[in-house]
Amino acid sequence: MNTMNATVTSEADMSETENTPLPETKPAEATIEEGVTVGQPFADDAKFQLRNVEVLYGENRAIKNISLDIARNEVIAFIGPSGCGKSTFLRCLNRMNDSIDICSVKGSLQLEGQDLYDPKRDVVELRARVGMVFQKPNPFPKSIYENVAYGPRIHGLANRKSDLDDIVENSLRKAGLWEEVKDRLDATATGMSGGQQQRLCIARAIAVSPEVVLMDEPCSALDPIATAKVEELIAELSESYTIVIVTHSMQQAARVSHRTAYFHLGHLVEVNDTNKVFTSPEHELTESYITGRFG
Ligand SMILES: Nc1ncnc2c1ncn2[C@@H]1O[C@H](COP(=O)(O)OP(=O)(O)OP(=O)(O)O)[C@@H](O)[C@H]1O
Ligand SMILES: [Mg+2]
Repeated sequence: MNTMNATVTSEADMSETENTPLPETKPAEATIEEGVTVGQPFADDAKFQLRNVEVLYGENRAIKNISLDIARNEVIAFIGPSGCGKSTFLRCLNRMNDSIDICSVKGSLQLEGQDLYDPKRDVVELRARVGMVFQKPNPFPKSIYENVAYGPRIHGLANRKSDLDDIVENSLRKAGLWEEVKDRLDATATGMSGGQQQRLCIARAIAVSPEVVLMDEPCSALDPIATAKVEELIAELSESYTIVIVTHSMQQAARVSHRTAYFHLGHLVEVNDTNKVFTSPEHELTESYITGRFG
């Protein structure tokens, strides 16, 4: 306790005696005000309109009053320290949290102006529109072809075998995998490298023509070459899809996204153009995180 007092006194003394001006401080923003996000959390052309979103696991509030728009055809990156709620918030966007019994979602969450949590909504159809790619590639233990063909088949997107073949080929091409696998479409997917498996999962997600692709740390299990391929793919996909990517790599967020959202302890602290977040963040906590002072 003495040590604490001593520290406080010496800091106070220093700030009075120091001649050089102190760096500009932003006292009002050093703390988090619940429900307040600095920067540009809203968009004119919103695909998702999310207002006052709260997520609870039992009594634990994992997401605390977050409001955000996700624009059509934007790539938005979610960053922040481990446990701050990035995956939880991402999973709200295609109701993946539904499968967690103790999880409840509150607030207004709209996709194209329609309530995402309308009990009448067909969740299977929703997940075809809002696809997901997970941290760990999770191909089905089936052939490469079947992994991609499964979704279009169950959603009735192809009437003839030749239509299905075309969807499989196009999806694998978009995922940058066609040349590597075209001669072994019947081989089992689990025999592929991790990077190939992840691109296969991306092909599987886009085979049903989604509008949005959610990606939760899609490159964390990949080497730099496979990561570069997935990043190239994200850039190409962003021409036709809305992409939400959670990443622990700030370089990756800077490379692939248009806007970046900084989460902290269940709050959405700042959303801004990615360049701004990484060159002149508005919030002190964002700055501390991107400069590596914590997280
Ligand atoms: N299935 C679950 N059951 C109970 N609590 C959970 C569950 N999933 C997440 N949580 C809690 O919700 C909070 C946010 O977790 P979440 O996984 O969303 O964080 P994150 O930002 O994705 O972290 P990381 O970067 O480590 O993946 C944490 O306190 C976590 O313990
Ligand atoms: Mg996570």
